[in-house]
Amino acid sequence: MARFNCVTVLAPAKLNLALDVVGLLPGGYHDLDMTMQAITLYERVVLRRSPYLDLRLPGSLVAPNNKNTAIKAALAFFDYTGLLAGVDITIYKNTPVRAGMAGGSADAAAVLVGMNELYGAHLSMSELCALGAKIGADVPFALMGGTCRVQGVGDFLKALPPVPECWFTVVMPDYGVSTPEAFAAYDKVGSSIHPDCGAQEAAIRAGDLDALCAAAGNALEECSGAKDTGAIKTLLREHGAVTALMTGSGAAVFGVFRDEGAARAAAQAAKRRWKQVYVAQPDRGGARVSR
Ligand code: C5P
Repeated sequence: MARFNCVTVLAPAKLNLALDVVGLLPGGYHDLDMTMQAITLYERVVLRRSPYLDLRLPGSLVAPNNKNTAIKAALAFFDYTGLLAGVDITIYKNTPVRAGMAGGSADAAAVLVGMNELYGAHLSMSELCALGAKIGADVPFALMGGTCRVQGVGDFLKALPPVPECWFTVVMPDYGVSTPEAFAAYDKVGSSIHPDCGAQEAAIRAGDLDALCAAAGNALEECSGAKDTGAIKTLLREHGAVTALMTGSGAAVFGVFRDEGAARAAAQAAKRRWKQVYVAQPDRGGARVSR
């Protein structure tokens, strides 16, 4: 039984505190070992009951077509539940695109969570994750959120305790990176960076921010071809970041700070050169209905 006519969902963007490529999987996908962290930067997704399937993205250049992860999620939901209905989706995007912050996956997760609520379908988290994994590798994490060790394609998730209190300054350059191209470049040139995700998990369990940062790293950073990465990392470190690295397949780069003042000062300095700069904190959840 449908309970509401309209539901609003908040879905956090993510950062990779670590990303390692540990092998190749059938189908050309890569076997990954990662620490993913949800942050307080949200996609806001409004879903309304409708006989039609419609998508709007006000103020965004992202195309509202059938390739959009939100439409894929709605179709996967209808297919799985057998529900004969539509949905009207409006996405207010706050996450930069082609950034390595899983904005598209957050949109898909928001649609799954929102439709589950809108149509009272009572799908479990594991059912939603199984549906989400077919839409994109990062969708299961976008549903789970918080801090997770993520392995395989992105479908083996282990929830970790919250990270110690910290702040993130995220800088998005004026260009984006294509994820398939970043992995293709990795296949050609490999990487000298292989973070120790086990050590980082232990650091998180011990609540040790220094050890967490010492184990941070991204195996895709060198091959992503993102030309501003080095300059952004230098700026963030000069302003007191404990560590700085690229997230996902790029192009966004972030610093980890102990206190808000330093994070905001770094952001102010970054804004002199880059337009898209964000200050955020760790978020303990994933995509959720906002009341
Ligand atoms: O699943 P998603 O559409 O987010 O992945 C985008 C691309 O990233 C894939 O087409 C693939 O080229 C690459 N990828 C990969 N290995 C992963 C995740 C993504 O090679 N574990």
